[in-house]
Amino acid sequence: MENSKELFKKHIAQTSTFDAFQIDVAKAEGIYVYDKSGKQYIDLMSGIAVGNVGHCHPAVVKAIHEQADKYLHVMVYGEFIESPQVKLAKRLSDLLPGNLNMTFFVNSGSEAIEGAIKLAKKYTKRSEIIAFKGGYHGSTLGAVSILGDEKYKQDFRPLLPDVKILEFNNSNDIDQITEKTCCVVIEVIQAGAGIRIADKEFLQKLRNKCTKTGTLLILDEIQTGFGRTGKLFAFEHYQIVPDILCIAKSMGGGMPIGAFISSNIIMDSLNDEHPLLGHATTFGGHPVSCAASLAALNVLIEDNLMNDVDAKATLFKSYLKGHQNIKEIRNLGLFMAIELKDSKAIDKVVERCIANGLITFWFLYNHDSLCIIPPLVITNEEIKEASNRLIKSLN
Ligand SMILES: Cc1ncc(COP(=O)(O)O)c(C=O)c1O
Repeated sequence: MENSKELFKKHIAQTSTFDAFQIDVAKAEGIYVYDKSGKQYIDLMSGIAVGNVGHCHPAVVKAIHEQADKYLHVMVYGEFIESPQVKLAKRLSDLLPGNLNMTFFVNSGSEAIEGAIKLAKKYTKRSEIIAFKGGYHGSTLGAVSILGDEKYKQDFRPLLPDVKILEFNNSNDIDQITEKTCCVVIEVIQAGAGIRIADKEFLQKLRNKCTKTGTLLILDEIQTGFGRTGKLFAFEHYQIVPDILCIAKSMGGGMPIGAFISSNIIMDSLNDEHPLLGHATTFGGHPVSCAASLAALNVLIEDNLMNDVDAKATLFKSYLKGHQNIKEIRNLGLFMAIELKDSKAIDKVVERCIANGLITFWFLYNHDSLCIIPPLVITNEEIKEASNRLIKSLN
């Protein structure tokens, strides 16, 4: 009989030739993933920025059970009043600046980006979209059109027309935004590029230029959201507010959900007779995902998980700084990249980490750096243990 790895290879569509992971998952809890042999792994990736409150947080699991006992899917999005959606949207609105008061729920980050672009086009009646080199916004065709790495676009052309890709953190390039520009899509911290942090001056200038030209500023906070950088959203570090905010990943506490959020005035342009249901989703805002999301958000806030993010990041860095194989550590809160001196060694280091019970990875566009984005519930003791395992692997 074929073993589970052979069946996985044979029947699950493969997306990467990098073979080192393939952990045969038995369970996951807090910062840990366990395979079927009982081996424990510290997950420094949080399932790629999904588990800010940790895997299978009891409050999230309870909310899932309770909602599953009441109802699952009942109607396409936006037709019935589903209280898990309404409660979550109200809570988000209460936590966000005043103009971000209306939420459109979707299923994923890519869909949040697609919805945001469609909303911006509908509202501004313009077509030019501006995005940035090094940016990653998802795998659907609209999102691919605005990616900032040609390798990931070349096989899928023709893509969306009227897209301009500017240099990230280059203030001069902001001059290319004009009255013809529909929207600017940007990550506050570029994840795929290996934690490239926007300069404050650059983002503020960008915000001002968008306001001046009537261009909508769309922030992709799909990875940076929900406390990752020590604030609920990374834009709070910059004293700016977007016109549209895209969120997903940790939003669901482990369940699939995303959203684009804007003002009721902008959002109202989707509430149009021409045509009716011009932007629709069957499963967006699934009641179980919304219940899980609200529970995760409550944990994040009530357990003060954001308060210690900076101290935890500093502790991590104190263990790793000065290691002979590390060139640089970049971070904002627990959104961290460790750049190696020898980029060719990175696959080997990731493999060694797996062998030593530690999950880390490189970044989509950056093969020089290790990604360190642990669940925010990680304790100081666990940071010490994770650092030991990482140092052992680096050695
Ligand atoms: C910054 C950013 N935007 C968008 C996405 C796309 O999200 P999803 O994979 O949920 O479609 C990702 C996913 O990694 C991301 O990191």
